[in-house]
Amino acid sequence: MAGPLPNEAAQAALDRRFMAAAIRLSRRNAGRTSTNPSVGTIIVRDDGMGRPMIVGTGVTAVGGRPHAETEALAEAGELARGATAYVTLEPCAHHGRTPPCANALVNAGVARVVGAASDPDPRVSGKGYAILRAAGVQVVEKVLATEAAEQMAGYLTRSLKKRPEVTLKLALSSDGKIGRKGAGQVAITGEIARRDVYLMRAEADAILVGIGTALEDDPALTVRLPGLENRSPARIILDRQIRLPETSKLVSGVDRVPLYIASCLEADPQRRATLERAGVRFIGTETYSGEVALPELLEDLAALGMASVLVEGGAKVAEAFLEEDLVDRIVLYQGPEAIGEDGIASPVDADHIPAGFRKLREMRFGEDVYAEWVRDL
Ligand SMILES: NC(=O)c1ccc[n+]([C@@H]2O[C@H](COP(=O)([O-])OP(=O)(O)OC[C@H]3O[C@@H](n4cnc5c(N)ncnc54)[C@H](OP(=O)(O)O)[C@@H]3O)[C@@H](O)[C@H]2O)c1
Repeated sequence: MAGPLPNEAAQAALDRRFMAAAIRLSRRNAGRTSTNPSVGTIIVRDDGMGRPMIVGTGVTAVGGRPHAETEALAEAGELARGATAYVTLEPCAHHGRTPPCANALVNAGVARVVGAASDPDPRVSGKGYAILRAAGVQVVEKVLATEAAEQMAGYLTRSLKKRPEVTLKLALSSDGKIGRKGAGQVAITGEIARRDVYLMRAEADAILVGIGTALEDDPALTVRLPGLENRSPARIILDRQIRLPETSKLVSGVDRVPLYIASCLEADPQRRATLERAGVRFIGTETYSGEVALPELLEDLAALGMASVLVEGGAKVAEAFLEEDLVDRIVLYQGPEAIGEDGIASPVDADHIPAGFRKLREMRFGEDVYAEWVRDL
């Protein structure tokens, strides 16, 4: 930043403050940037009176391009010269459809780049920072790196594990049940929690449930928040024998929100043709012990460009994902009422979180308690 240099501790505090703002900004397009992560960039310079002034902001555009740095530099124009750029992910170093962002930052005359998360993409890893340093740009790495990585966990999981990040989300009654046998959808949580789920869906690439839930609850699995109705991600149903009825809400909404059925290759071709005519897409899956083989399915979803999958149950599917060690994040909403003896037990609750997970946050939504656990990549 131009102007008098603040001391080291004040500079570090300032760097954390602007990086936190860049991370918050990066959320804007979460779930809408295709195979790219939603990155945030903020360009800051001295306002001439020793105070920092934001001169450019950018978020990865919907669809993944242009990158955040390009947008922020365009807004800053000449004011980028001598400024500090805060980037939530190491700037890219490879020539794609546009020149690398690292070069764009150099060409714009940025004096300092503060980065957060590292990019595991071998075309970028370390190379973006190397371009900047070679051009005399001061680089500070890993400022709020964990917080930034958290925000782009889907992208990082897909890069490192070749599968989408899996979030298991369940609503539990006070006695640890997720529903009542044969009772259809049972209201467990209140309105605020329901709306929070919509928000979570809006940021995911897909929602996945088992056919048990699809038949029992007839859910739509969409985002029904005012202003975000067009942010519903694809729905995926594990349904080996194609039991999903054409009359279900899932099928009737297929012209607005994509619906995939993961079925076995030998499932009834007539049923498949009928649903295909209605607009349903199929993912032919391998089976393992008579069930859809989950690791292979997740690989296929990553190949379709999906970086985050929200598994919303039911009990059997949740248990299968946990048993196969395929869950990266657990989100539980616990309501105040008990369901009782005839309830369906949840395969996981706050007192029985698998080893390796750490609690990330706990909140209260009206009478419901929200808690979230993650494990490191
Ligand atoms: N409170 C909550 O958060 C919540 C959320 C969702 C559901 N629920 C409740 O849960 C109940 C339904 O749960 P559920 O256990 O009966 O059904 P489910 O888990 O939704 O679906 C299980 C079915 O999915 C199919 N499947 C395919 N591959 C699988 C695999 N690898 N692992 C597991 N299943 C696979 C199997 O049917 P095929 O063999 O035919 O393929 C299996 O029977 C409902 O009462 C619903 O209300 C509660």
